Amino acid sequence: MPDNFDAIILGAGAAGLMCAARAGQRGKRMLVLEKADSPGKKILISGGGRCNFTNIGAGPANYLSANPHFAKSALARYTARDFLELVESYDIAWHEKTLGQLFCDGSAKQIVAMLLAECDKASVFGGEVVVRCNEDVRTVERDNGFTVTTDRGTYQGASLVIATGGPSIPKMGATGFAYDLARKFGLKIVEPRPALVPLTLGGEEVLFREISGVSAPVVASAGKGRFPEAALFTHRGLSGPAILQASSYWKPGDPILIDFLPERGAEWLLERKQETPRATVRSALREELPDRLADILAEKLSVESELGNASDKALRIASERLKRWEFRPNGTEGFAKAEVTVGGISTTELSSKTLEAKQVPGLYAIGEAVDVTGWLGGYNFQWAWASGVAAGEAL
Ligand code: FDA
Repeated sequence: MPDNFDAIILGAGAAGLMCAARAGQRGKRMLVLEKADSPGKKILISGGGRCNFTNIGAGPANYLSANPHFAKSALARYTARDFLELVESYDIAWHEKTLGQLFCDGSAKQIVAMLLAECDKASVFGGEVVVRCNEDVRTVERDNGFTVTTDRGTYQGASLVIATGGPSIPKMGATGFAYDLARKFGLKIVEPRPALVPLTLGGEEVLFREISGVSAPVVASAGKGRFPEAALFTHRGLSGPAILQASSYWKPGDPILIDFLPERGAEWLLERKQETPRATVRSALREELPDRLADILAEKLSVESELGNASDKALRIASERLKRWEFRPNGTEGFAKAEVTVGGISTTELSSKTLEAKQVPGLYAIGEAVDVTGWLGGYNFQWAWASGVAAGEAL
């Protein structure tokens, strides 16, 4: 006889645990099935072990999705302040690092422990949350409700929540399982691709690999994304927060534009010509950027003479190029290095209020499995919490 639950959640990650806790505290009997040997593994490695658990400024503009309006409802109903309040109610010490990013002072373990404690609290409200790890899902069938068979048992739920995340970091067991299951129920998938991921350089641009380890504050742009943060040159290409952010907006064949002089205007070298005519492009750049980067950029600009002897036109072109340096990445470092996935279960299939599939009553999808992807900096967890709560309220 299969065990009966109000809902079965597949995946004990950020979104799944939040959803289970919320529904459990509404008196529901919930089962969470997790493939790994313990819950919340991505939370544990997040933010360098300190979990950047939210971003205080999180709003719909910080997310990518084929439908930019989709995330609005859930994000408005469960905000960063709501999650912070929960964190504080557990006396978890936190700090703001930069740009609204909130981290634990101690360890990401505190966030997982808090979520599990919230699940346990269900019993106070007449509900129950059972979390079962090492459960490898074999089949999911829809009958009156949903029947899930794993290598260890068969379970019955009136509803089913897909919370198995995206395929980033396969060595942690991440797969496209959510998409396969969604497809089985006829839901469309927006082509998934790696996001928040380093980009690789080839062709003439391999030259930049020689300065691996050098970083500089820049503004990196791709598509509609524009990010003033640090860029880092690596032995394979480009990384650092500005590049990771822009990578989510980058598509193969597109350029990445880098402003190497965000604090300077487009006439900078002309101004330097007036002030220091004996300077060269290289020496002027060395005052603004790390030496090795300055040297390589100067070499590429090939304005050989002292500034005083260079034409205004050549200096204007060089200044403009420094403010819109075009890289043509030949790829990304792939899902193996991607912090998240852009794309996923199409939002056209889901209610933005409840995350329930419009054509398949009782089926829900939350978290990274859905085509909603946040910027770097706590936004992805905020979506996991908010979408988990939205479904948890509706189950
Ligand atoms: P999540 O991946 O958390 O959970 C899915 C769960 O489902 C996993 O436990 C998985 O084992 C399980 N599962 C998968 N397949 C299954 C199956 N077939 N059956 C049963 N269970 C299955 N974000 C942020 O906001 N701040 C940060 O600091 C970081 N840092 C960070 C670092 C690194 C290295 C990575 C890779 C990612 C981040 N992120 C982040 C992103 C963040 O971790 C991610 O967006 C959320 O964990 C997504 O939450 P979900 O619950 O949707 O998936």
